[in-house]
Amino acid sequence: MKVAILGGSGKTGRAVGAALAQAGVATRPLGRAAFDDLPAALAGADAVHVIAPNLHADEPSYVAAVLAAASEVGVGRVSYHSVASPYVPAMPHHLGKAVSEDMVRRSGLAWTILQPCAYVQNLLPALRAARSVGELSVPYAVDTPFGMVDLQDVAAATAVVLTADGHVGATYELGGPALVSVADVAAAAGLTAARVPAEGDVHPWLQAMFDYYDDHGLPTGGVPLRALLGRAPTSVADVLARDLA
Ligand SMILES: NC(=O)c1ccc[n+]([C@@H]2O[C@H](COP(=O)([O-])OP(=O)(O)OC[C@H]3O[C@@H](n4cnc5c(N)ncnc54)[C@H](OP(=O)(O)O)[C@@H]3O)[C@@H](O)[C@H]2O)c1
Repeated sequence: MKVAILGGSGKTGRAVGAALAQAGVATRPLGRAAFDDLPAALAGADAVHVIAPNLHADEPSYVAAVLAAASEVGVGRVSYHSVASPYVPAMPHHLGKAVSEDMVRRSGLAWTILQPCAYVQNLLPALRAARSVGELSVPYAVDTPFGMVDLQDVAAATAVVLTADGHVGATYELGGPALVSVADVAAAAGLTAARVPAEGDVHPWLQAMFDYYDDHGLPTGGVPLRALLGRAPTSVADVLARDLA
């Protein structure tokens, strides 16, 4: 089996590629140059996993181009890396994924949609920087609930849906094993946490996300990930023990 990974050279794409390789699948990581000739980039693959770059200005167009090219060259299987709670009108980059999900479902391809919560790994640079001061600083509330998830678990689940039967037509919300706040993550690293103003020029969509996180966090269920992995998703403490060193 050969899987083309759009966004394969990014943070998520590299993790997905490693998980697929571990499952014995040949991968074709693709970056922005693939858009020069998408049909050629996808030709010969059995499946394509679609990851858009962070805060893409027009994710539906990005996804539509990949779906059209996949159809053209006969790649019949597609999985799409969406996000937890895609239909949130207050967060434009989530809304772009909600629109893209609709296109994936109507593509005529054999599809699976994955909706991960925020990765625990997002906080690693700030946690490392916080060690000298003892306090983790983020520009949103530190006590709202998230289903923070291990990126490696998300990648492993992606490999499962692409290599095992029974996942066509499925949409899976991918949260970690428990709802946690940023303060909980900081405590697991032996730190306190504080909300601070965002620094510098903040992309308006990122600010919209901070505002939403302030009020609601991003709670996400962990049961589908447990089912896909056949084990408990990795806890925040275990991700930090593995990755924070
Ligand atoms: N971080 C999280 O917690 C989280 C949670 C859920 C979902 N997500 C979603 O995961 C996705 C990927 O996140 P990530 O952190 O892995 O992203 P990333 O590291 O920024 O991904 C970059 C990838 O996108 C490609 N790319 C960049 N600009 C492009 C363009 N204009 N046209 C085409 N391709 C372009 C890059 O190719 P080159 O190598 O050629 O530059 C690279 O392969 C995002 O859609 C994000 O919303 C993230």
